[in-house]
Amino acid sequence: MAESEKGLRGVVAVESGITSIDGVRGILRYRGYDVVDLAKYSTFEEVCHLLLHGELPDSDQLASFKEELLAARSIPTEVEAVVDDSARYARPMEAMRSMGSALSFSDPDKASNEPEANQRKAVRLISQLPTVMARYRRRYYGLEPVGPDPELDYAANFLWMLRGELPSEEDARVLDAISILHADHEMNASTFAARVIAATCTDMHSAIVGAIAALKGPLHGGANEWVMATLKRIGSEDKIDAWVDETLDRGKKIPGFGHAIYKVTDPRAIVLKEIGRKVFERADPNDPNWFAMTERMERRVFERKGLVPNVDLYSASVLYYLGFPIDLLTALFAANRVAGWAAHVIEQHLDNRIIRPTINYTGPAPREFPVASRRAGQTA
Ligand SMILES: CC(C)(COP(=O)(O)OP(=O)(O)OC[C@H]1O[C@@H](n2cnc3c(N)ncnc32)[C@H](O)[C@@H]1OP(=O)(O)O)[C@@H](O)C(=O)NCCC(=O)NCCS
Repeated sequence: MAESEKGLRGVVAVESGITSIDGVRGILRYRGYDVVDLAKYSTFEEVCHLLLHGELPDSDQLASFKEELLAARSIPTEVEAVVDDSARYARPMEAMRSMGSALSFSDPDKASNEPEANQRKAVRLISQLPTVMARYRRRYYGLEPVGPDPELDYAANFLWMLRGELPSEEDARVLDAISILHADHEMNASTFAARVIAATCTDMHSAIVGAIAALKGPLHGGANEWVMATLKRIGSEDKIDAWVDETLDRGKKIPGFGHAIYKVTDPRAIVLKEIGRKVFERADPNDPNWFAMTERMERRVFERKGLVPNVDLYSASVLYYLGFPIDLLTALFAANRVAGWAAHVIEQHLDNRIIRPTINYTGPAPREFPVASRRAGQTA
């Protein structure tokens, strides 16, 4: 197998009308709309409608879609019990993976893969995962859970449930924009996992659990936690250059850089950098300036290796500033990405064929079966 084919680079796995990437020009579009415009002018609820139904909603459609999302925010009592229990010993992404599964237990549509049932499950998952995540976090800190507030939109409600106090409009808008940027990303590893699982004609929750598991890895969604932990370990801007040099000299990877598809800076990173710049203008000047450190890292990594940022470089410190602790960053990504995963599962079920690639076999040539007494010296 040619090195260029490793990791299925350039292989078309499915036909899809959801998201497209121009990796050479650095453009990401959901259903034809540039994600930069969506992050600036739209809301997460509108983007969910776009991903799930193919079009941005008009005002009546938006009102009824928001009603559906609002009605789905609470989680069943038996899931609350699982969340509370997991907060005692599971890490956040382990909990998210398990909750994706637990949320199917009493889902009224669990036995159906029909488009309408899938749409209802998608709405429930988009609304329930933030509730699950915020509850887990508050229990983890020994705090009383804060339930959803029907007066608040997705992002403001998320921050309310997490922090237990009403967020400023600016903070809610920042989280809304990040959620839009996280919502989908074509055939990335977790979406591919979701589609492979869905293509066996299993249910949406099963596909989402697999996607959460794939997102957890540090080369994928786990990179945002890796970025923030790295910034904290380095500690100050004046130590960045030396750390970058030493890391690259040892042949190690630096989180938040590089991409399988983009040949130029990830467009989401450009938007997130501007968001980060504004956010850290309002930050306490006595706190470490994570934005300045990140910018310095971007410069040094480019000078040394010509690598440019991906989505996780600037999102990490902005989310940390918003009150998401390091180990919750990938879980937040998952809660946002479920919109895209669900859209892909719906699309897969609508025109399905089981996904079954092949391998280039490199094992032993055909050979005779040896009885046990003649196997001495054989290694696996
Ligand atoms: C995203 C990623 C997995 C893409 O992987 P890929 O397309 O298979 O690219 P490769 O890992 O083969 O990298 C190609 C070259 O760039 C280097 N490279 C890629 N990303 C790098 C990084 N973040 N730090 C240092 N070097 C990197 C590789 O070492 C390799 O160099 P070489 O040719 O000298 O051996 C990879 O860039 C990475 O691991 N990034 C860090 C994790 C991350 O931020 N993930 C979030 C992605 S949105």
